[in-house]
Amino acid sequence: MVGPRTTWPTWYLLETAAQGSASGALLRAAGAKRLALVGVAFRAVIIVGNGSDGAMSAITIHRVEPDEWEQLRDIRLRALANAPAAFGSWLARERGQSERYWRDWASGTTRSGDRIATFIAVAEDRWLALAAGIRPPDDPQTAALVSMWVDPALRRRGAAHALVEAVAEWAREQGARRLELWVTRTNTPARTLYLRSGFTPDGRTQPLPSRPSLIEEAMVRHV
Ligand SMILES: CC(C)(COP(=O)(O)OP(=O)(O)OC[C@H]1O[C@@H](n2cnc3c(N)ncnc32)[C@H](O)[C@@H]1OP(=O)(O)O)[C@@H](O)C(=O)NCCC(=O)NCCS
Repeated sequence: MVGPRTTWPTWYLLETAAQGSASGALLRAAGAKRLALVGVAFRAVIIVGNGSDGAMSAITIHRVEPDEWEQLRDIRLRALANAPAAFGSWLARERGQSERYWRDWASGTTRSGDRIATFIAVAEDRWLALAAGIRPPDDPQTAALVSMWVDPALRRRGAAHALVEAVAEWAREQGARRLELWVTRTNTPARTLYLRSGFTPDGRTQPLPSRPSLIEEAMVRHV
C-alpha cells in the first residue's frame, strides 16, 4: 500500500502539465480523451479517461519516503529479476543487502554520501515503476539517472518518460546542469526512451558490470 503522504505537490504536476512534460506524457500515452488534474489529500493524482466508455484511471508519481524501504526493496528486486541484462547490479547481490542499505536508499542518502531521490509510478495503490536520481557530493554539476524499470503491465503508457522528467526536475532543483545515465547498447526500448527524452550518447562505453559481455554506453542531457 502507498502511504497517504507525498512530497510531490499538486502545483508541480500542474506546472509540468503546462510545460507538456511529465503529466503530459502520462496523459498522452494513456490515450486520454478527457482529463482533469486534482490534488487529493496531499497526493497529486493524474486522472485519465481511458477510452470511449468514459472509464477513468489514475497514475501517480510518488517520491519514496524513508519509511517505505521495504516497498522500495521489493520493487527493486522485481526489476532485477525481470530485466537482468538491463542493470549493472544483479538480483543475488541486492537480495543480500542489509536492512540498513534499503533504509539509507529510501531516506535519500547513501553511505558514500550521495544524495538519492527515488520516484515510483503508482496505479491503484500498486508500485509499478521505479527510477532514481543520484547526486554525488564531489560533482555538483552532474546527477545520474539510475534503476529505471517499468512493470510489463504498465509499459508503453508513458510511465518511464514521466519518471525521467521527475528525476530531471529533481536534478535541476539540486543545482545540477547535466543528467547522465548508462544504458546497454542492445536495449532498444530503453535507448529509444532516452533518445526521445533528450539524451545523447557522449562516446563513453564500458562493459556492463553484471554481464561483461554486454557493452553499455553513457548518455547525457542538460537539465
Ligand atoms: C525501457 C522501459 C523503462 C520503458 O518503459 P515504458 O514505460 O514502457 O516507456 P514509455 O511508455 O515511457 O515510452 C516512452 C518512449 O520510449 C520508447 N519505447 C518504450 N518502449 C519501447 C519499445 N519496446 N520499443 C521501442 N521504443 C520504446 C518509445 O519512443 C516511447 O514513446 P512512444 O510510446 O510514444 O513511442 C521498460 O521497457 C523497462 O522497464 N524495460 C526493462 C528495464 C530497462 O531496460 N531499464 C532501463 C535500464 S537503463
